[in-house]
Amino acid sequence: ADLAKEVSLQGQRVLVRADLNVPVKNGTVQDRTRIALSAPTIRFLLDQGAKVIVSSHLGRPKGVVVEGQRLTPVASVLEEVVRVPVRLAPDSAGAATAAFVREASAGEVVLLENTRFHAGETKNDDLYAKQLREVSGAEIYVNDAFGAAHRAHASTHGITKFVAHKVAGLLLDKELTALGSIMAAPEHPVVACIGGSKVSTKLPVLESLLATCDTILIGGGMMFTFNKALGREIGRSLVEEDLVPMAKAFLDKAEARGVKVVLPRDFVVAPDVAEANQSRALHADVATYQGDGVGVDIGPLTVGDFHNEIKDAKTFFWNGPMGVIEVPRYALGTDAVTRMAAFLSQKGGLAVVGGGDSLVSVQKLGLFDKISHVSTGGGAMLEFVEGKLLPGVEVLDNAK
Ligand code: 3PG
Repeated sequence: ADLAKEVSLQGQRVLVRADLNVPVKNGTVQDRTRIALSAPTIRFLLDQGAKVIVSSHLGRPKGVVVEGQRLTPVASVLEEVVRVPVRLAPDSAGAATAAFVREASAGEVVLLENTRFHAGETKNDDLYAKQLREVSGAEIYVNDAFGAAHRAHASTHGITKFVAHKVAGLLLDKELTALGSIMAAPEHPVVACIGGSKVSTKLPVLESLLATCDTILIGGGMMFTFNKALGREIGRSLVEEDLVPMAKAFLDKAEARGVKVVLPRDFVVAPDVAEANQSRALHADVATYQGDGVGVDIGPLTVGDFHNEIKDAKTFFWNGPMGVIEVPRYALGTDAVTRMAAFLSQKGGLAVVGGGDSLVSVQKLGLFDKISHVSTGGGAMLEFVEGKLLPGVEVLDNAK
C-alpha cells in the first residue's frame, strides 16, 4: 500500500517474489494455504493496473531442472485463487522467457518457472539475479515470501540490487506485524509448544524462548533426546545422541530461570513408523518404558497436560508437529494442539501457529479462521522468533 502512494502502478511491470513452495504429490497441490495467502498482493497490484510477474521456488532441486518440481500444479491453483489467467513461463531466465513475459496480455499473471532450477538462486549469484530482473522487465520488486525471507537467495536478496523500488508485500507485512507484536510485548502467561523431529533445528528457538515464556511444552520426535538426557529408556525412537548433553543443559537453564518445561509423560509407540503397523501401536509411559519400539506421537495424558497449560495462557506460540502426522493415527497429538490453539484464540487469547505440518493439521480440521495468526513460515518464523534479522526483509525499502 505504501508503494501505491508513491508510484503509479498503471502499466508498470512488478516482480513479486512469493513463497509458493507447497507440498505437491503426484502432480497435485496438497495444501494451497501459501498460494491462497499470496493472492491479495497479486490482486492488489492487478487492480492498480500493474503487469504482474511472480517468482517462487518449489522444493529443493539443486540447480537443475527436475520435472516433478515444475510449477505447473502451482500455476493452476494460483489461477483459481487470483481469478485471472496465469501463464507459466518456460524458465526464470533467458531470452525465451523474456519474450514470453513481453507477450503476456494485460490482466494476465506470468509465473516464472522454479527459481531453484538455477544454481545461482541459492548461491545468491548476481548474474542470475540480474537475469531474473531482466526477464521480468520490472523496476519494482515486491517481496511477499515470508516463508523464504530467512534465505539470502538471488530472488529474495540479490535481486534488490538491480531494481529501483523494493518493498514488502501485504502478506510479508502482515506476518512481520503479527509475529513482531507477540515477541515485543506478549501478554503473560506465555506458553510455547515446540515439536518436530530434531532438537538440532529447535535448540536456538528454545533458548530464545526462555527469555519470553513462562512455560515451554516439548513434543514430537525431539522429546526422545530429552528423555535420553533424563536417563530414560527410549527403545529405537529417534534420538540425536550428540545433542543429549545440550538437551540436559537446556533443562537446567530453564529451571535456573524459573521457566517451567513440560515434557510428555506418555507416548504412542509402534514397531516402526510404517502406516501398515498403525494397529500395533501401543500407549506407553515414559518413566517405565522398557521396550524397543519407535515413538510416533505424544500420548493422551500428555495431551491433557498440554491442555491444562494452554487453556490459561494469554499468549501461545506453536511450531512443529507432536508426532508422525503423515500417518493419520499418529496425528492425534498434533490435531489436539491445533484444537487448543483455536480454543484459546476463540476465548480471547493470542495463538500463533507456524510450520508446514501444523498448517496441514489446521486446514484438515478447518480451523484456519479460528486461530489468531497462522504463519506461512516454518524456518522463517523460527528465525524471526530467535531475534535474527531476516535477509529478505533487511534489504527492502520499507523494512521495519
Ligand atoms: C519453507 O518451506 O520453509 C520455505 O519455502 C523455505 O524452503 P527451504 O527450507 O527449502 O529454503
